Amino acid sequence: MARKLHRRRLLSRTEIARQSMLHRWMWKLRIALYEESSIFLSHYINEDKIMLGVIGAMDEEIRLLHAELEGVKEFVHAETTVYCGSYKGTEIALAQSGIGKVNATICTQMLIDLFKPKKLIFSGVAGGLLPNMLAGDMIVASHVVQYDMDLTAFGRRHGETPGRDRLIECDPDLVAKATTAFDSAFENTEAGPNLMLGTVASGDRFVQDTNMLRWLQREFAALATEMEGAAFGYTCKINGLPFAVIRALSDSSSQSASSDFEANLHQACRHSFQLMDHLIPTALQENKRIDRRARD
Ligand code: ADE
Repeated sequence: MARKLHRRRLLSRTEIARQSMLHRWMWKLRIALYEESSIFLSHYINEDKIMLGVIGAMDEEIRLLHAELEGVKEFVHAETTVYCGSYKGTEIALAQSGIGKVNATICTQMLIDLFKPKKLIFSGVAGGLLPNMLAGDMIVASHVVQYDMDLTAFGRRHGETPGRDRLIECDPDLVAKATTAFDSAFENTEAGPNLMLGTVASGDRFVQDTNMLRWLQREFAALATEMEGAAFGYTCKINGLPFAVIRALSDSSSQSASSDFEANLHQACRHSFQLMDHLIPTALQENKRIDRRARD
């Protein structure tokens, strides 16, 4: 009995020694990896570094911006790749969110938490809701609304979330800068796209239905529909950050929408890129105008 205990104690001491050495090594490795990644990331979350967050849903919607980015560093969080670099002198964190409101929300909150952008812009394509609109025409959202939020069973209006505004206003300064960017992007273009400012209605559905598009137009006075803008806008608003949504029309949300989308996607992406190319360098510039609402 005494011998058994003695042997057991000897064995456990050896094991403990081995285990503690292994643990020490693992901790050293963990600390080294953590320090490396946090030093790397802290370069970008430096509070002095003013950064713009830019998001698109699909690869086609960020590809042209990515091609212009200099000194690119990549980070992967929540299965989302973020490209940090300089866009014509402006530091940006560029990400592809994936399609839909859930993806847009995850990506926006992750970008805000980890990269601390001062402002954010969502750019990409949308389906037009008015009969006279053409593929390639541009929409700068004045407001965004989540059209598929439906608590009408409790007497609320379509798009209404308790405790939140039904229509979320985009940052007026970024909206003004986007219209100026549109002018400079297309001033020398013959038969260039038209520009419209108004409400963009977002929901988790690709709209390919005349009744639905009429309903969106009439219920929300919306100009265009897509699948991310309102989720992105709500997330920015809740975090107290200025935001804008820029869209080029790929289709007219009617019966032929999916084939029109495929035919026009690249041209529409090129138009939103051209506007963004002029907007990004001005987006973070300080506006000298005093916001009286904040003072009253
Ligand atoms: N994005 C582009 N076209 C769209 C449509 N018709 N519906 C929803 N999102 C879109």
